[in-house]
Amino acid sequence: MRVGVLTAGGDCPGLNAVIRAVVRKAEWHYGDSVVGFHDGYRGVIENDWTELDVEACRGILPRGGTILGTSRVEPYSVHDGVDRVRLTMSELGVDALIAIGGDGSLGAARDLHDDGIPIVGVPKTIDNDIAATEMTFGFDTAVQIATDAIDRLHTTAESHDRVMVVEVMGRHAGHIAIRAGLAGGASLTLVPERPFDIESVCDSIRQRHQRAKKYATIIVVAEGAEPAEGTIELPPAERDQFGHIRLGGIAQVVATEVERRTGYETRVTILGHVQRGGTPTSFDRVLASRYGVAAIDAVHEGAFGQMVALHADDIVRVDLNKATGRLKPVSDELYDAATQFFS
Ligand code: F6P
Repeated sequence: MRVGVLTAGGDCPGLNAVIRAVVRKAEWHYGDSVVGFHDGYRGVIENDWTELDVEACRGILPRGGTILGTSRVEPYSVHDGVDRVRLTMSELGVDALIAIGGDGSLGAARDLHDDGIPIVGVPKTIDNDIAATEMTFGFDTAVQIATDAIDRLHTTAESHDRVMVVEVMGRHAGHIAIRAGLAGGASLTLVPERPFDIESVCDSIRQRHQRAKKYATIIVVAEGAEPAEGTIELPPAERDQFGHIRLGGIAQVVATEVERRTGYETRVTILGHVQRGGTPTSFDRVLASRYGVAAIDAVHEGAFGQMVALHADDIVRVDLNKATGRLKPVSDELYDAATQFFS
């Protein structure tokens, strides 16, 4: 077989490990050849690709990012996009595609499958918000980076007796925030799933300072966290070229209000894309490698329109129709456990 691979949407650590695993099993086990499309679906639409073999993938396992490049371009947002995908595949003799992406890119894979393109999905996002899998690779790395940052913020916060507001990624769900907050011993964590009341945030800081004279505070905020209705107004959001709201900055809003209302000196750290960069943790390398192997097996078993997923430490397949279009929020159990340490 000749198989095409692409990485679409925001990058995350572990993409190269998936590519390497697909290529390794495709070439050595099945005797396939593999085409790597550049910049996600753009490469398939525009016939921009590179030949991938085991040699080309040497040394990429620990490398962050994606050797193929990525973009948010999708066949359904481009004129004749689906026909151009078909044309590229027939010109190159590509029998099937493996799309590694988040909810949006997997949604495009679902629609391509409905339009007759043989395609298998691999879920990725540092946000870990894809509903049909317990874990996406890249998430563990992001949580570790955020936890390390919180550990560092503790010492400087204590020296100056300051409030530190640290913003982590998490567009629609607070998985990174809640886990890094719990692991890093945050005093409070604000997530998109639970709109926050700024006055309660300030009250908990005041209470900390009543309990002890010096009481530095770390507040973790997911970038998608929102104030409860009728509390504080956010500035109008900017959008990127694909119409996605550009997040980043809620920590500054929280910090300004905290300092104004409580009088405690407050500083902001926005971790941003640092969380998506650099080498994947061993957990993410293993998960990504297992996904890659499972994806090429799925191609050979004709399991098109399906996505590989992690369920109770087993790699399974889930229908892309069921896997996309709904996101996974932080569970009540995890949120409640984290609240036991809010103080
Ligand atoms: O991939 C998910 C994500 O990292 C979100 O957490 C974040 O809001 C978004 O991507 C940022 O996207 P961009 O790289 O386009 O700024």
